[in-house]
Amino acid sequence: MTDGPAQTIKEKLDIVEFLRGYLPMIPAGKNLKARCPFHNEKTPSFMISPERQTWHCFGCGLGGDIFAFLMKYENMEFGEALKVLAEKAGVELKRADPREYKVFGLLYELQDAAKDFWKEQLKTAKIAKDYLNERGLTPETIEEFEIGFAPNDQDSLAMYLINKGYDPADITRAGLIGRTERGLQYDRFRGRIMFPIHNHLGKVVGFTGRILPQLDTGELGKYVNSPETPIFNKSKLLYGFWKSKSAVRESGKAYLVEGQMDFLMSYQAGVKNAVATSGTALTPDHILALRKIAEELLVSFDNDDAGFAAGERAIDLAEAGGMQVRIVSLEGVKDPAEAAQKDPKILGEAIAKAEPAFKVFFRRYLPWGKVDPLNHAELKNLRILLNKIKSISSPVERDYWLKDLATYAKMSESTLKEEMEKVQVVQAPERFREEEKIIPERKYSRGERISKDLLGAAYSRGDYSILNDVEDLLDPSSKKLLKTLKSGAKKAADPEEDAFLNLVILEAADVSDGEIADMKSALKDGSSKTKRLELTERVKEAEAKGDEEALKKAIEELRSLPPG
Ligand code: UTP
Ligand code: MN
Repeated sequence: MTDGPAQTIKEKLDIVEFLRGYLPMIPAGKNLKARCPFHNEKTPSFMISPERQTWHCFGCGLGGDIFAFLMKYENMEFGEALKVLAEKAGVELKRADPREYKVFGLLYELQDAAKDFWKEQLKTAKIAKDYLNERGLTPETIEEFEIGFAPNDQDSLAMYLINKGYDPADITRAGLIGRTERGLQYDRFRGRIMFPIHNHLGKVVGFTGRILPQLDTGELGKYVNSPETPIFNKSKLLYGFWKSKSAVRESGKAYLVEGQMDFLMSYQAGVKNAVATSGTALTPDHILALRKIAEELLVSFDNDDAGFAAGERAIDLAEAGGMQVRIVSLEGVKDPAEAAQKDPKILGEAIAKAEPAFKVFFRRYLPWGKVDPLNHAELKNLRILLNKIKSISSPVERDYWLKDLATYAKMSESTLKEEMEKVQVVQAPERFREEEKIIPERKYSRGERISKDLLGAAYSRGDYSILNDVEDLLDPSSKKLLKTLKSGAKKAADPEEDAFLNLVILEAADVSDGEIADMKSALKDGSSKTKRLELTERVKEAEAKGDEEALKKAIEELRSLPPG
């Protein structure tokens, strides 16, 4: 990582304040702790040190500074993180490298310009405004989500952007225009309601456009999406998440729907923790983004076979990714958008009555409860359920649902378990396992670990004199670290020492006098044990050599050790 602007930014931004926007944290002595957003955990092992301005997760081993956090969390390159943080810190960056600007800066700028153009067009397009109104969107929602209208022209956007001085080649790269075989350029989006897709930080990175029904020739899809570009990755983005993130975090729940209209109508109806996939199936990356801040996924997909199938795949994925899933059933309507339009209260009520996904699956696959083992179809459906249960990431939940299924299907749990062993489990996607990989840390010996905790205790009391009577027993690296700590330094130049210092500070706990005494005696005990082994070796050696003098000395020392 380079110095210069990055260093200035780090001095200006407080890591605790910054991370507070991402994670609920609780104080832990001089540090703060939180549940790690980068791996699945129930008890917090993610520590943040205000003094070192660093974070470290003792569960998955990841750690670093404010840049490392943002890059990992938002899946960004260093250059992008630098821009985001510079803006936040009010630090002026030197003009970006023109090549990098072409890759990112210009693409963002073009999406923004297109969005502004289409917003402006909507103002005078009565048929588009009428359509939005008919679908139930209020002017406030339209404004908040920056919805626009692409006129049904060959190239009005292209002309607008070219007149602003943009190069057609760049506009094409931004996914806004295409070219016919004869080289004629045309707008990708024509005669469509334009929904900008914002990334999770709120920048427009692409669009989805819905055809106006009056203009629908059935030639192109009902919805057309921007192509993938360096800033637009559908499989990672969730529509609306930039707005709903905080409500998702606060409630610990995300309400997942299928499309833009479902999202907007839900949000407008007061369901502020909604998110939507847009034009893709739910992916492991989507789950990873959600489970960082929520434990529970509420799902309502369209009330048709395609919706059920898509919903079920999404649910299987979320369960495999360690989220708990509930199904929000909407009776007598096509989808959440229609429900919210009918009556904004419906969604809230349906959400309150959401059922665990497995309850719904049991009914869907085994409507009669009891399974007839000679009926092939029923047996097959039972296996589908067992497969789903087997894929749940949490063993506790797996056990719970197996028991529940036993009751529901009126079968013994042990039989079901045996059958379950046989079914082929759907492997958790590689992407989850990649995230869950534990990064091994250097192994510390027992003595080092006790020393580390003692140093931490002294650090957290701000009183190193409590270590006076055990200083000699500390291992060499702890001794060195004690000097560093006494000097008031929070960083060490030697990387190995700094890693150890990091652990000491981040794991420092306020411990009682009693615990300190226990640690000290464990240290003494440990060191006398080591000493005893050493002396026994020396005795043997001296005996073998016939060295009377050495033998006598070793035995004497051995006798002087405390009993144990
Ligand atoms: P739906 O067909 O359920 O759309 O597809 P919808 O939201 O109910 O649309 P309205 O209510 O008729 O306007 C769900 C989502 O799948 C994507 C869109 O993101 C859509 O919102 N989709 C659908 C496409 O990307 N292309 C399509 O041709 C259709
Ligand atoms: Mn729909």
